[in-house]
Amino acid sequence: MMRRFVIVAHRVPADGDFSLNDLCGSGGRVDVLSRAVSASFLLSNSIRSDVEARLVINTEPRYPRLIRFDSSRLRFLNADERSTAALIRNALSRCTKDGEIESSPGVFVSRAGLVEALSDLENAILLEEGADEPDWRALKDATFVLSDDQNFTPKETERILGTVHQKAGLGERILHTDHCIAAVNHLLDKAEKG
Ligand SMILES: C[S@@+](CC[C@H](N)C(=O)[O-])C[C@H]1O[C@@H](n2cnc3c(N)ncnc32)[C@H](O)[C@@H]1O
Repeated sequence: MMRRFVIVAHRVPADGDFSLNDLCGSGGRVDVLSRAVSASFLLSNSIRSDVEARLVINTEPRYPRLIRFDSSRLRFLNADERSTAALIRNALSRCTKDGEIESSPGVFVSRAGLVEALSDLENAILLEEGADEPDWRALKDATFVLSDDQNFTPKETERILGTVHQKAGLGERILHTDHCIAAVNHLLDKAEKG
């Protein structure tokens, strides 16, 4: 079974022009994406299989970018935010107009945005505080859509609601993006074990 996470980022520079010493400032909170990628894939001493994370970079501006991390080929993913930000920066700086390319093993980048990120999904679920908690055992090949540290814009919300099949919540409290992903992975692990 495949798990997917789509994370919408709002301020990460689309050309990857940021300093690895300044992930929160010039990186436009790329640290949030790094932690989200870590939470999607990393176990203590290995990488989860059958997981994909899609990072939608800048949905509103004219230069959207879509970065896909695919566990079946993923290498060089470490637990620190800086090295994951380096994978993201490398992907953004190598993006070309010639379709999707693999910027490093298991990391793919293209000039695409939220529409493309959501277009091929059969079971897309918007994670939203206060929404009903789903029956985790019933979720097969689900994709969870989350924002970074900012709210979805009205346009993003409209697009997402036009595509998602249901909403799911993890309680009333607003959690960090990576904490939501860790919770979903835990709940799905538990559900799959029976
Ligand atoms: C840090 S929150 C976004 C910022 C937040 N809307 C605010 O008011 O500052 C990041 C994302 O995590 C997800 N999220 C946060 N808390 C959640 C919860 N309790 N249940 C489900 N999803 C949650 C949502 O997808 C949200 O867009």
